[in-house]
Amino acid sequence: MPEYVLPPVVLLGPGVSSAVGREVAALGCRKVLAVSDKFLVEMGLVARIQDHLKAAGVDSLVFSGVNPDPTTGNVASGIKVLKEGGCDGVVSIGGGSALDCGKTIAYIGAAFPDDPVEAVKTVPRAARSLPFVAIPTTAGTGSEATQFVVITDPVAKEKMVIINRNLMPRLALDDPELTVTMPPKMTAATGMDALAHAVEAYVSPNASPLSDALALKAITLIGRHLRQAFVQGDDMNARTGMMEAQFLAGAAFNNAGVGYVHAMAHPLGARYHVHHGVCCSLLLPAVCAFNLSVVPERYAEIAAALGCNIRGLSTEAAAREAVAAIAALRRDLKLPERLSEVGAREEDLVSLAEEALRDRCAPTNPRQGTREEVVGIYRAVL
Ligand SMILES: [Fe+2]
Repeated sequence: MPEYVLPPVVLLGPGVSSAVGREVAALGCRKVLAVSDKFLVEMGLVARIQDHLKAAGVDSLVFSGVNPDPTTGNVASGIKVLKEGGCDGVVSIGGGSALDCGKTIAYIGAAFPDDPVEAVKTVPRAARSLPFVAIPTTAGTGSEATQFVVITDPVAKEKMVIINRNLMPRLALDDPELTVTMPPKMTAATGMDALAHAVEAYVSPNASPLSDALALKAITLIGRHLRQAFVQGDDMNARTGMMEAQFLAGAAFNNAGVGYVHAMAHPLGARYHVHHGVCCSLLLPAVCAFNLSVVPERYAEIAAALGCNIRGLSTEAAAREAVAAIAALRRDLKLPERLSEVGAREEDLVSLAEEALRDRCAPTNPRQGTREEVVGIYRAVL
């Protein structure tokens, strides 16, 4: 039976982030923790958001200690600031890392645990989150639409995927103006992450009419806008299209889950410190090729959504067009195509595969593989 989980309010369009004060005040918050990274603080973006909050009578404190892959320690430090400052809400400004860290601070921090690191690992089921507001500055993770976070345990060198409805943001302000300064490399990587969300949700055994609609539209928009956002970063039409797409893709996988691209990307990212979007982009065509035989009609529909001419082709041939189109997009975006380019070695593949098969995203891949088969996928990309 499908279970539909969507964020209650999303405002999307150029300039919507300036509504943050009014919207946060409407949630009943008086003092919020602004969670971001040092770069966005230095750029002045966080101060701008604080000004909007202040104008609406909402105080704020800043926590800028978010790592590119947020850790249990980042969450614990944020909770300390939240607790000492007496904050009653959290506003994250940034990419997936700031959003995931802020979501976890708002949820775990609501219970004021004595040991926040341990609390992140055990995830108290009964706790309720403080109001959380997401202001993404990249167009990829869709974290503002999901009950998922990925937090790295630096001791075990593992990425923990936490899935919990209490992690759902109360409000998202998806402002494409905030993404125009993203460099092309980041635009490419985050855009391919969004494509991986949509493709994996579309072929998931948990797909539903809702996730299908969201995923297919996301794929269409990515096919239409990602190359342009990459070559001309200030094209607001392309940036708005990608902001729409990544939100739809996030909402799609929030309901259908993702699969082996993500299960296999997590250990890669944790081990070699490679950007999550680059990891997904490296694996996406190979995982599609592995899955193709079990859901060819789904991949044929993905090919059509990406704009491929599949008229007259068999379902299998049309499905293969999807893999070719994704590989061509990746080439145009000048992203790496081999795992060896990011430091992976043959002798690491077995342990990577073992970790991938333990990942919480693995069960929603449409074709379940053995350890050797997953090693084979990694090896095909090595
Ligand atoms: Fe992702």
